[in-house]
Amino acid sequence: MKDDRIARISSTIRIIPDFPKPGIMFQDITTMLLDPVAFKDTIDLFVERYKNKDISVVAGIVTIRGVHQTAQTAKPPAPHRTTPYNAIWNICGVEARGFIFGPPIALRIGAKFVPMRKPNRLPGAVISEEYSLEYGTDIMEMHVGAVQAGERTLVVDDLIATGGTLVAAINLLERVGAEIVECACVIELPDLKGRDRLGDKPLFVLISSN
Ligand code: PRP
Repeated sequence: MKDDRIARISSTIRIIPDFPKPGIMFQDITTMLLDPVAFKDTIDLFVERYKNKDISVVAGIVTIRGVHQTAQTAKPPAPHRTTPYNAIWNICGVEARGFIFGPPIALRIGAKFVPMRKPNRLPGAVISEEYSLEYGTDIMEMHVGAVQAGERTLVVDDLIATGGTLVAAINLLERVGAEIVECACVIELPDLKGRDRLGDKPLFVLISSN
């Protein structure tokens, strides 16, 4: 059953034609941020999906309210974690608008937030991945050590178009051995078939916009 909150969220997203280039219909989520109810509903919908998420059937991991039950999946918590075990350990937010949605979800479900940034913005040692965009190419970087091998990770962005950005995020995370639980976006542009490029990685979106 469709959640009533989604129609309200959708109504707050502004479409700006020909930005940043002619022919691009830009989905502007900043107008949603001006509506605290719609913004909260957006975060709530993601939190409801990911908090205490028992994904044992999919991943073969028995995790109940954040407690690992099997020796093969039990891992020491990262030193700075306050909730020692959680179904999802990391929220990776993709610059820039993934930084708007990722941190509140991370705080609510007790996961780390890891920024995935454009080049030369992160001060520490990084790993990099070049990727293609709907309109150009770019490089994505992540701090070495921010995500450990085996950590269960959710990738968050505002929008999936061609999927190039999420593919780059997935590639970076898999290079360090992370387990991608899912990718989560507010908006999908299904005509661009970005979902198909994610292979076996699940994608959850609130709004499909044709
Ligand atoms: C937009 C959007 C996604 C990406 C999706 O970011 O926020 O990150 O495009 O496109 P894709 O699925 O074709 O890769 P943009 O490139 O505008 O960068 P910004 O968020 O830093 O403005």
